Amino acid sequence: MNVLVVGSGGREHAICYCAAKSEKTDKLYCTPGNAGIAEFAECVPIGAMEFDKIAAFAKEKEIDLVIVGMDDPLVGGLVDELEAAGVRTFGPRKNAAILEGSKAFSKDLMKKYNIPTAAYENFTDPEKALHYLETAKFPIVLKADGLALGKGVLICNNLEEAREGVKTIMLDKKFGSAGNEMVIEEFITGREVSVLSFVDGDTIKTMTSAQDHKRAGDGDTGLNTGGMGTFSPSPFYTKEVDEFCEKYIYQATVDAMKAEGRPFKGVIFFGLMLTEEGPKVLEYNARFGDPEAQVVLPRMKNDLIEVVEACIDGTLDQVDLQFEDNAAVCVVLASEGYPVSYEKGVPIHGLEEFDKHEGYYCFHAGTKLEGDQLVTSGGRVLGITAKGADLKEARANAYAAAEWVQFDNKYMRHDIGKAIDEA
Ligand code: AMP
Ligand code: GLY
Repeated sequence: MNVLVVGSGGREHAICYCAAKSEKTDKLYCTPGNAGIAEFAECVPIGAMEFDKIAAFAKEKEIDLVIVGMDDPLVGGLVDELEAAGVRTFGPRKNAAILEGSKAFSKDLMKKYNIPTAAYENFTDPEKALHYLETAKFPIVLKADGLALGKGVLICNNLEEAREGVKTIMLDKKFGSAGNEMVIEEFITGREVSVLSFVDGDTIKTMTSAQDHKRAGDGDTGLNTGGMGTFSPSPFYTKEVDEFCEKYIYQATVDAMKAEGRPFKGVIFFGLMLTEEGPKVLEYNARFGDPEAQVVLPRMKNDLIEVVEACIDGTLDQVDLQFEDNAAVCVVLASEGYPVSYEKGVPIHGLEEFDKHEGYYCFHAGTKLEGDQLVTSGGRVLGITAKGADLKEARANAYAAAEWVQFDNKYMRHDIGKAIDEA
C-alpha cells in the first residue's frame, strides 16, 4: 500500500514509525513531515491545511490510505475532502471532529448523555459571562471554545483574574475566533490521565494509558506548553478506574456521537481527571496525543495499518488490541526559553546513538536539515523515548538517552515520570 501521513510533529514521527514497520506499507509519504521522518519516508512540502493540494497529491501518487495526525485539518474537514476525492482516510469527518473543535459542543454532549465531567455554563455574550462570574466559586476555569494550540484554558483564582480572562478570550480575542464562545467550568482536582482509543463508529478499543506533563518547569511550574514529556502506563489508572470509564465514559461517548448523527471514526483521546468523586472528562481530542503517541505507539503490538483499516471498515470488534507488558517514558528536549521565545537553527549532535540501542527512540518535532547538518527549528525539538521493564527503568533509560543528544540551548524537565514514585 501507498500510505500518506499528514502532520509534522513528534506524534506524526511516531505514527510514521509504526506505518513504516507494517508489512502492508510499500511506500510511505508524509506532508509536510520533518527531518526525522525524512529518514524513512518521502516528505513532501505541502501544508496540513492545503486540502486541495493534499487531495491532488494523493490521487497522483495513488495513495491507498491517508492518516491525519493533526487537529487543525481534522476540525477543518480534511477527511471529508479526501473522501469526496475517493481517497481512503483515517480520522473523523468534520461533523465528528467537533468533539475536539468545540468545547461548548463537547460539554453539552456530556451533559445530555450523562457522561461525568465538571459542571459548566457556555457563553457567547461576554456581559453574561461577567455577570455569571459575580456569584461564582473560585478558582474557576475559563475555556475558549475552539482550537487554541492547547493554550485556551485559563485557571482564575479570583473575580479579578476571571474578569481579565473574559477580556483576554472574548474581547481581545487572544485565541482568535476560538474565543467567540467560552465555557466557564468548575475547577476540579485530581491526577490527570490520557487515554487514547481507536473507534470505528460503533466499537471503541482503548490503548494503554499515559500521562502528560504540560507545564514548562520542574514541579509543574511555569507556563503551559504542548507537553514536556509523558510516561505510559499510568500507575494511577487502576483496574477500578478502567472499569468505571468503560461503564460511563468510553462507549457512552461513541454512542452519543452516533445518536447525534455524527459517527466518530478515528482516535478519541480522553483527557481524564481522577477526582474523589470518580473519573471525569476534562477534554476530548479527536487525534493521538502529542507527546502521548510517543510512549503509547512504541508499546503497541498490533500492526497500526491493520487497526486503522479496521476502524475505517467498521470491523474493530474483530481486533485484539495488545500492548507490551513494559513501560515507556518520553522526555522532550526543547529550546531554552520555550514556550515564549527561543533561538532556532542550532546544530544538533549525537543522534547516531539511537541506531545502536534497541528500545530507544528519537522522535523529531522541531528540526530541519541545513545542508547535511541537523538543526533546531522549533520550541519542542526532539522527543526522547525509552522503554524499560517498568516505569522506573524506562525513566532512567530515557534520561540517559537524553544525554546522548547535544545542542547549545537544550532544555528539558528533570522530573518526567517522578509522580510514579508516589504510586
Ligand atoms: P484542557 O485543554 O481542557 O485539557 O485543559 C488544559 C489543562 O487545564 C488540563 O490538562 C488541566 O490541567 C487544566 N484543567 C482543565 N479543566 C480543568 C478543570 N475543570 N479543573 C481543573 N483543571 C482543569
Ligand atoms: N498532550 C496533549 C495533547 O496532545 O493535546
